[in-house]
Amino acid sequence: MEPSGKNVLIAPSILAADFARLGEDVRRVAEAGADWIHVDVMDGHFVPNITIGPAIVGALRGFTQLPFDVHLMISEPQKYVESFAQAGSDLITFHIEVVKDPVALARRIRAMGKRAGLALNPGTPVEAVLRFVPEFDLVLPMSVEPGFGGQKFIEGTCDKLRKLRAAAGEKYWLEVDGGLGPKTVGRAAQAGANVIVAGTAVFGAPDVARAISEIRAAAGG
Ligand code: DX5
Ligand code: ZN
Repeated sequence: MEPSGKNVLIAPSILAADFARLGEDVRRVAEAGADWIHVDVMDGHFVPNITIGPAIVGALRGFTQLPFDVHLMISEPQKYVESFAQAGSDLITFHIEVVKDPVALARRIRAMGKRAGLALNPGTPVEAVLRFVPEFDLVLPMSVEPGFGGQKFIEGTCDKLRKLRAAAGEKYWLEVDGGLGPKTVGRAAQAGANVIVAGTAVFGAPDVARAISEIRAAAGG
């Protein structure tokens, strides 16, 4: 799980999967060429939606060896990072909007041998996170308002990606999340994203392998 300046990673978001058959859907995209599995955790408080918790992450762990890229859209991530780590998360991302001391929480996540990610909402200026880049393995500028899949890509995210890439250097994971598909991923990758989350564009496609390779190709990966 090492950042590379070259290839683009594709992380299908299981928010768009069939919640009645999550295990099979995880295996399906893993076998169809996904690099990571993006797991959207929502608490109905930080975002107006509720999805899954550590128990489901644990239940899904056996369906693939791929890294679980867990995106905590929850108000009190500091209370749950241990249980998500124990459940089998490989990378745990929390939101800058709800944590007073992001460096301390990143260090707790890394001390458990996991990678730490820092996410920011569309309305949060990128300057709010630039100084924390060295303390994290990944930064995730959201390209939609968090809470739901199937929304439209917010173009202003590319500006944030450019500033983040300038601050982070070549070999650093910049993940973009929301509204990504073959028509939008090119400019996001051009701006510096090298980890692409795609929910609807993958799970909504008739052929997930084809969808993943089209997104990868459109990203220049
Ligand atoms: C939204 C989630 C995203 C979302 C992406 O809050 O963080 O990961 O599932 O879904 P699409 O790709 O459908 O926009
Ligand atoms: Zn997400």
